[in-house]
Amino acid sequence: MSILKTSKLGNPILRQIAKEIPLSELKSPAIQKLIDDMIETMHEYDGVGLAAPQVHESKQLAVIEVHNSKRYPWAADVPLLILVNPVFLSKSEETADGWEGCLSVEGFRGKAERSKQVAVRFWDRKGKEQKLEAEGFPAVVIQHELDHLAGKVFLDRMRDLSTLTHLKEYERFWMKPHDEES
Ligand code: NI
Repeated sequence: MSILKTSKLGNPILRQIAKEIPLSELKSPAIQKLIDDMIETMHEYDGVGLAAPQVHESKQLAVIEVHNSKRYPWAADVPLLILVNPVFLSKSEETADGWEGCLSVEGFRGKAERSKQVAVRFWDRKGKEQKLEAEGFPAVVIQHELDHLAGKVFLDRMRDLSTLTHLKEYERFWMKPHDEES
């Protein structure tokens, strides 16, 4: 496995709609290795999610895992999820604003507006169809990662840029020991 180089804001790949992965391609050693490398890369950078365009691959693929997160210490654990060709089945109209960061928008946090509940359909790494309902932080992470596959970043979901905050100032002024999505 290898740790992959991440793309940063301004790289055009982050603004493209990622391409669907056909079943035959998903089963190839190359894509299976990409999945493993994305998991390792997410762990290396203490991310809670990583989308393929963030590692320079324009593919409908994202990984999510929350386990004793250093970047989001208050977040409940989410078991490893591999989302291939994910689509939303539903997104609640009710929204909440919560702090988000992104490995492609290094060093910043900002409050983004997200649906409170979502349901998604996707393939797992074997190409088996899965459905998942989520609410709270896991729902936020899913929306954040699916946004990456649609060429969007969390900055696009901020009501305005008034909460855009350097990570150091976030830790100084805004991070609370048990900060929940609010
Ligand atoms: Ni991101």
